[in-house]
Amino acid sequence: MARPITMIDLFAGCGGMTSGFAAAKGFRPVMAVEWNLHAAATYAANFGEAHMRWGDIAEIPDRDIPRADVIIGGPPCQGFSNLGSRNVEDPRNKLWKEYLRFVRRAKPKVFVIENVDRFQKSAEFALLLAEAQPGGLLEGYELSDALLPAVDYGVPQRRKRAIVIGSRIGRIEAPEPTHGPGRRLRWSTVHDAIADLPRVPGTTSLPASKTEFFGRPVPGVFKEADLHLGRTPTERSLLRYDCVPPGGGRFDLPDHLLPDCWRNKKTGTTDVMGRMRWDHPSLTIRTEFYKPEKGQYLHPQWNPEDPADRVNRPITHREAARLQSFPETFVWCGSKTEIARQIGNAVPPGLAEAIARHLKPRLREAG
Ligand SMILES: C[S@@+](CC[C@H](N)C(=O)[O-])C[C@H]1O[C@@H](n2cnc3c(N)ncnc32)[C@H](O)[C@@H]1O
Repeated sequence: MARPITMIDLFAGCGGMTSGFAAAKGFRPVMAVEWNLHAAATYAANFGEAHMRWGDIAEIPDRDIPRADVIIGGPPCQGFSNLGSRNVEDPRNKLWKEYLRFVRRAKPKVFVIENVDRFQKSAEFALLLAEAQPGGLLEGYELSDALLPAVDYGVPQRRKRAIVIGSRIGRIEAPEPTHGPGRRLRWSTVHDAIADLPRVPGTTSLPASKTEFFGRPVPGVFKEADLHLGRTPTERSLLRYDCVPPGGGRFDLPDHLLPDCWRNKKTGTTDVMGRMRWDHPSLTIRTEFYKPEKGQYLHPQWNPEDPADRVNRPITHREAARLQSFPETFVWCGSKTEIARQIGNAVPPGLAEAIARHLKPRLREAG
């Protein structure tokens, strides 16, 4: 039996990235850091509480940082995100420096930073590259960066993540895409991910259970099936949903059903009030996928000839977790809103698994 490859997950969220590394087999988490209690609890319920440090990364003293073969994790991306402020002075952008502190201390052979696509164009990214020059904090590491569409690695979703791979065992490029036109495997679709799930969710609320994590009671632990949650839309919302065919969106609404903000805004935000298509991957699943006015989140079933054969609701948390490629065995902690945030913030485990499988032989070779 080969020695497990030890890893640290920073800004771990619910552990989407760790989930992918776990699926690749051979990796053993020795530390994870996350300051959101509900997300840290979800991580702990899946991967163990003992090595999860629930708290601010800046407050972890150097002496507590163990050696590890790999560091993974994504500093919060709101400062870079298209939806965020794009402010380079945003204090959240400085958190990547905490990441570097961990790299200096844990001395991993390889580290993987993930972020939103804008990261590659940011001032912080340029500074990161500069640190890998002689005399910099990352001296000895070779960096490669790529923009990876999750759909090209088997995830049924068109989400793109910027990935930086830092290595002191020789430069490592991003893994080659495996899925898509002209490749060995076809793209996964919304149908592949959710077609087997009940079209009418049986409930609108999570079970009333609580479990103690880090000495605090947290809602959960919930199974995937507990996350199939319906909502109670107004009559007017239902009329709107019913007008939108697969691939369509707010431009399909008749004038009398348009809210003022959309009537006055004739361009932009094309995917809002959108309906998914069965035979395509979904668009990016963000943290508020349960609100159809926020993106293309309506269930894909919509029969043009038969209004009774239409599913007029947004996707459920369970469906969102599937579209993010979480395994069915993954368990969840937190309120409905918190779990949605965990799902939407995660690196799709399927993408993380492709990265982990790609790194594994290089790490094994290096001993
Ligand atoms: C984009 S999410 C990470 C998602 C994760 N990589 C996954 O795959 O599930 C970023 C996380 O960083 C956490 N975070 C932000 N600032 C932090 C800090 N100062 N210390 C610890 N965690 C922090 C947030 O609570 C959030 O869960």
